[in-house]
Amino acid sequence: MDGVTVIDHPLVQHKLTIMRKKETSTAGFRRLLKEISTLLCYEVTRDLELTMERIETPLEETESPVLEGKKLVFASILRAGNGLLEGMLELVPSARVAHIGVYRDHETLQPVEYYFKAPEGLSERLVIVVDPMLATGNSSIAAIDKLKERGARNIRFLCLLAAPEGIRNFQSAHPDVPVFTAAIDSHLNEKGYIVPGLGDAGDRMYGTK
Ligand code: URA
Repeated sequence: MDGVTVIDHPLVQHKLTIMRKKETSTAGFRRLLKEISTLLCYEVTRDLELTMERIETPLEETESPVLEGKKLVFASILRAGNGLLEGMLELVPSARVAHIGVYRDHETLQPVEYYFKAPEGLSERLVIVVDPMLATGNSSIAAIDKLKERGARNIRFLCLLAAPEGIRNFQSAHPDVPVFTAAIDSHLNEKGYIVPGLGDAGDRMYGTK
């Protein structure tokens, strides 16, 4: 699918299977989410630009590559997006973090915004928006609308699972934003859940219902 990268690394796929299982505990789910987010972060940042820096090793001066440009922004769509942050920040500790509060009204399935806080300089930074589930796409579309209003131009979207309907909806709203996901599932059910999916990601990571 154009504009969508499926991260099919065997470790990602294995961990995702355990996360899908209904008997996986809250603690297990959270630990796996942290582990998998590190691997997803590795893949979503694979092509970042580098610049050469003059350094001194104990033996001599040399030129060595470092990340170019301003610090990255990880933008978490609350609340489930936060589950992806910890592992990603372990890999990129200097990243800035944005939080966007958009919840899905269970009746209308439409996004309702309640919080937005982002670092300065969005227009000069790569912004990686994270939410484990790309279901209808409505929340992520609304979150990215907000980020664009604040100047973000270079955006990627990272999730764990995506539904084909959500990808279509997302891409028609934001064709310039590449999507990275560990899997594309079969469909959405009538309640807007991804099938076969893993259930409600927020509930599973926080032990709520
Ligand atoms: N959000 C979730 O947490 N799970 C789904 O299946 C769909 C949306």
